[in-house]
Amino acid sequence: MSVLNCLKRFPLQTRALFVNPTSKFSSEVVVKGVIAKRIPTYIELKADKTYAWCSCGLSKKQPFCDGSHQSDPNGLKPVKFTVAKAGRYLLCRCKQTNNRPYCDLTHVKTFIPESIRNMMKIKL
Ligand code: FES
Repeated sequence: MSVLNCLKRFPLQTRALFVNPTSKFSSEVVVKGVIAKRIPTYIELKADKTYAWCSCGLSKKQPFCDGSHQSDPNGLKPVKFTVAKAGRYLLCRCKQTNNRPYCDLTHVKTFIPESIRNMMKIKL
């Protein structure tokens, strides 16, 4: 989908378009969900169990899918994933991560202005 088609298709208030930095196609546009929470959450995950991470941000069972994406005009689907090793994992709830479903600290860059990050000596 071209950038222009995305801009026509999605209403302004729900538009969150990013060029995927990990894509081999430089023009690939990734539509991201609405912000559920501005911070991630640690979740205890079991090995080899399939989980569905909410990518649209509309689920009431964050960070997991509850089927609410069916009313999402952007057509975002949950991200299914498993982990090889049981343990606590930091899952994204801001839906802006570039490493779905895991938090990659994009929420810090997005919600904390650079001047404040510098003042607090937060290095990314
Ligand atoms: S909560 Fe989304 S990147 Fe950290």
